[in-house]
Amino acid sequence: MRKSRILLLAALLLSLVVTGTAQASARPLVVGGGNAGQGQFPWMVRLSMGCGGALVAAKVVLTAAHCVDRTGGDTGITATLGKVDLRGSGGESVKSTYVYRSPEYASTGARDWALIELATAPSAPQLAFAAPGDTSLNSGNLTIMGWGSTTEGGGQSRYLKYATVPFVPDATCQKAYGEDLHPAYELCAGYAEGGVDTCQGDSGGPMVKQDAAGRWVEVGIVSWGQGCAEKGYYGVYGEVQSFSGDISDRIGSGGTIVR
Ligand code: ARG
Repeated sequence: MRKSRILLLAALLLSLVVTGTAQASARPLVVGGGNAGQGQFPWMVRLSMGCGGALVAAKVVLTAAHCVDRTGGDTGITATLGKVDLRGSGGESVKSTYVYRSPEYASTGARDWALIELATAPSAPQLAFAAPGDTSLNSGNLTIMGWGSTTEGGGQSRYLKYATVPFVPDATCQKAYGEDLHPAYELCAGYAEGGVDTCQGDSGGPMVKQDAAGRWVEVGIVSWGQGCAEKGYYGVYGEVQSFSGDISDRIGSGGTIVR
């Protein structure tokens, strides 16, 4: 008798846990995502001002222009790599020495990218980024990630979250955003019904896809959106291939920023 009551209680608790889990995976985070495994996205960076980024050269992190104030030195940013749990031990923390902010961003609101140079080269591997004019990965499922809000208006995540979202053609995204979208320099991803998206604090982080050789390539930089994961809207990402020539021009042979 006693034993069966305990079992009943256990089953009840289990069903609560399972229901909770099912809801979480139906509405993935970032918003609607799952926890990234340790080492799954080793080039992923958390920046101390509350943005994401990716290590793209020995000492250079690619992030969003709107995550930094200006081009110049003495930047006071710390980059954390190599751990999915921001409160966990291990990983690497490196201070910044210089920032380069996309010069066109301030006047146009497009080309939302910036580079952060680190004092020392992290041991983490680098993420490749889309070559100038290469739109071959602008299709299908794209992977987004970050420690940003897991619900619109919610707090930051302790754990790195990731999710996949489908590529959205410019014409579809323009129907949602009109002239706010800069299709030459931005691309969209997400579901018309909402539910899965990046959100505040994910900005600057990479949207990636594996190329034919299985290598991860950065195709987008988390930039903006109407709320997060809202029905009828999409996440808007800086379209890396549209300005990656400028990015490469700014990265010197030593894996630092060309001043
Ligand atoms: N601007 C935000 C940030 O600074 C990112 C917003 C992304 N929004 C979206 N719905 N995908 O973190």
